[in-house]
Amino acid sequence: MSKKFEQIYNKSLTKPEEFWREISEDIFWFKKPTKILNKTNPPFYKWFEDGTTNTCYNALDFHIDNGLGEKTALIYDSPITGNKAKFSYNELRSKVSKFAGALKNQGLQKGDRAIIYMPMVPEAVVAMLACGRIGVIHSVVFGGFASNELASRIDDSKAKILITSSCGFEPGRTVEYRPLVDGALKLAKHKIEKVIFFQRKGHEVKLNAPKEISWDEALSNAKETDCVEMKSNEYAYILYTSGTTGVPKGIVRDIGGHIVALKWTMKNIYNVDEGDVWWSASDIGWIVGHSYIVYAPLFKGCTTVLFEGKPVGTPDAGAFWKMISDYKIKSLFTAPTAFRAIKKEDPEGKFFSKYDLSSFKSLFLAGERADPDTIKWAENLLQVPVIDHWWQTETSWAISSNCTGIEMMETKYGSACKAVPGYDVKIIKPDQTLASSNEMGDIVVKLPLPPGTFPTLWNADKRYKENYMSNYEGYYQTYDAGHIDEDGYIWIMSRTDDIINVAGHRLSTGAIEEVLSEHQSVAECAVLGIADKLKGQLPIGLIVLKTGVDKDNETISKECIQMVRDKIGPVAAFKVAIVIKRLPKTRSGKILRGTIRKIADNVEYKMPPTIDDPAILDEIKEDLIKNNILKIA
Ligand code: COA
Ligand code: AMP
Repeated sequence: MSKKFEQIYNKSLTKPEEFWREISEDIFWFKKPTKILNKTNPPFYKWFEDGTTNTCYNALDFHIDNGLGEKTALIYDSPITGNKAKFSYNELRSKVSKFAGALKNQGLQKGDRAIIYMPMVPEAVVAMLACGRIGVIHSVVFGGFASNELASRIDDSKAKILITSSCGFEPGRTVEYRPLVDGALKLAKHKIEKVIFFQRKGHEVKLNAPKEISWDEALSNAKETDCVEMKSNEYAYILYTSGTTGVPKGIVRDIGGHIVALKWTMKNIYNVDEGDVWWSASDIGWIVGHSYIVYAPLFKGCTTVLFEGKPVGTPDAGAFWKMISDYKIKSLFTAPTAFRAIKKEDPEGKFFSKYDLSSFKSLFLAGERADPDTIKWAENLLQVPVIDHWWQTETSWAISSNCTGIEMMETKYGSACKAVPGYDVKIIKPDQTLASSNEMGDIVVKLPLPPGTFPTLWNADKRYKENYMSNYEGYYQTYDAGHIDEDGYIWIMSRTDDIINVAGHRLSTGAIEEVLSEHQSVAECAVLGIADKLKGQLPIGLIVLKTGVDKDNETISKECIQMVRDKIGPVAAFKVAIVIKRLPKTRSGKILRGTIRKIADNVEYKMPPTIDDPAILDEIKEDLIKNNILKIA
């Protein structure tokens, strides 16, 4: 371990309160905290308990107070629509404080919840920050989710208001939000009081007053509104993420710790300073979008970029290089799948050579395992460090990374580098003992987690404790498995629950199975994530029909695929449902998903000793070959 990093890392673990108190000096507080960490009620830890602050103040007003008002805060570029815009800190604050006034006019108060279901437009960022300004807890729902998912989030959060848009744009199709919103409002038991529609030019929808109003109407009599003083442990947002069942978990983020930790990461992990142009090519509906399109870069006083496009097809595989060159971007953060998409389309990097990338200093990848081939390809092309780092919605910032602002470390291809200051990462073996170097096991983090991580789940303390904090006493269970090598490098190998990662998007196979089981003809099913060259993993469904079903298999498959698209959304990328005769199970009736996955991925597998009928595995193999899933040379 290098000296400077080692010192900082060790201090974060041995003197966490001193470490984070010093860092907390860097943000704006209405009242500075004197109590740094309350550990009286584990696993419910509280950071900066008696401090008061405001998320939006730290993102905008703080920089304006410091003379940076005319600096660009947000760049918007939409190759899909051809729209571009830039907003200075002054301009963004003016928009945000006015929209905060509009929300107040709609009766929203501190502690109320607002759902934001919007495409990648500046108004989505304005809505998020406006919520923070008046202490409203936002819950952003990714636009690729269907009505059902939106409804479950409305019900769980009991939001007062829904802020949405007339439409979004995906390459080749317009995503009409109106039917999705209508469907969700019909499905939700909780009744939303008001819906604000941001009308996209040329794609306006008819609104039903008085419940529905347009963004412009909402603003028409709104006054600019100041930031309210919030307690450090009040919540900034809820972000729902896939859990081990179909019921999503509401990850909450408290205000003070979030600002302190995220601001610190910009320099220490990403080596990005105030004034630098930073781009996170993700979506505001995901944690990467929350933390690194909106919050961290604005807390730091950077220029952040909002991109409504794709790495390929908008219009070509040079889209990322054009952005970097046009806006002199210093660092980019995206998912490996984006680079695999570019590599597939332009393996020789022909588009790359057209642009001047002299501003570009580093590429960060996360969301799924970064395969060494892709990292090496990107390094060769870009001639800058390419850094794989590991994190989760639960933590909101990296658990392990090369902390490039502290000290650049050597890359080990396939590893997500070392634990970041604040995280005491360990590997625990099935017998509950700590693993030695290079031994595989469950990856856990010793409690307390650092600031900015999740203090609990929305209205679900029990689920938080049982799900994450109980299997290994005194540790947070990440549900990732892997090992730590002799140099302290962490190797993330797989999830230990039913979560799969599809194009960097986190999905629950259990949730897809729940949908398939609702099909009238389906007796039982198994959904598994199989390896995919582009998206990392893809879900496939294996379905067993009820006896006496007289529909043909192809129709049933199509219906199942459509059901998943309708109930979860296109983001599930569920395109394969294969009808099979029987599922392999253990003698106690557990479906052998892991074994089927290995067969589909064409990797070696051991015959499970508890298997009920080994012949079923051969049947499955044949079915997978027939359906072009398993390709045997
Ligand atoms: N609203 C509505 N639909 C959306 C959507 C949104 N915001 N985002 C994606 N979808 C749809 C897509 O249109 C696609 O629909 P289709 O089945 O009709 O084609 C489906 O959801 C799957 O989307 P995606 O997994 O993104 O696949 P893709 O083929 O459209 O694009 C990549 C593949 C690799 C280009 C794309 O996934 C990508 O850019 N990933 C980059 C990184 C990223 O965003 N990571 C997330 C967290 S860091
Ligand atoms: P999400 O909550 O959507 O950010 O997904 C978190 C999960 O994505 C983690 O638990 C991992 O399984 C996976 N993940 C994120 N980053 C990495 C990485 N760098 N390497 C391997 N897996 C990762």
